[in-house]
Amino acid sequence: MNVLVSPSILNADFLHLSDAVEVVNNSEADWLHLDIMDGVYVPNLTFGFPVISQIKSISKKPLDVHLMITEPDRHLERFRDSGADILTVHYEACTHLHRTVHHIHTLGMKAGVALNPHTPVTLLKDILHDLDLVLIMTVNPGYGGQKFIEHSYKKISELKNMMNATNPACHLEVDGGVDDKTAPLLVKAGANVLVAGTYVFRSTEPLKQIEKLKNIQPISQ
Ligand code: DX5
Ligand code: ZN
Repeated sequence: MNVLVSPSILNADFLHLSDAVEVVNNSEADWLHLDIMDGVYVPNLTFGFPVISQIKSISKKPLDVHLMITEPDRHLERFRDSGADILTVHYEACTHLHRTVHHIHTLGMKAGVALNPHTPVTLLKDILHDLDLVLIMTVNPGYGGQKFIEHSYKKISELKNMMNATNPACHLEVDGGVDDKTAPLLVKAGANVLVAGTYVFRSTEPLKQIEKLKNIQPISQ
């Protein structure tokens, strides 16, 4: 599988969001990553349906929507109507995850499940075959620009082995502290989708940063 890049606009200039979307449109990025936070599940608030719809109206890339919210079931349809192509819910926020994943599919979206740094990948054993994507949080969710958690490599390798056995087509996405130092090791461990916020949007050359991630070669630790 080729490496896919999904730039996160969390650390872009919110006064000029359309500029950030245009950067992604004009880049080699595969998806556009949107971080939705409710101030309850995570200690931060971002944006909701109207902003997603506006972004959808100008984005040339599929919207990769990462929900960091409690009770996501209440809003699945509205995220679909706002333009989400891939909808990822947190394992820790879903009591009836099987139902949630199937509802996302029924609504015509790809379904992803995100795991916090403390959540073992083995908990996905009985749902992995139903998923299009697993997102491994490599920082604690809530903010961009945090320090990468080194233990993540081990988790990614373990999950990749599980995927090879049950669902080889499933995407393995990593989110948090992804840059040109961590990315080669993440790809080597088994990740195939790189989310990057700070590395892209706090740079003076965001297009170049995206290109660098797109051309990452796997290396061992
Ligand atoms: C954090 C978000 C990330 C964030 C990553 O909760 O899920 O998508 O934008 O930011 P960086 O790349 O700065 O760690
Ligand atoms: Zn995210």
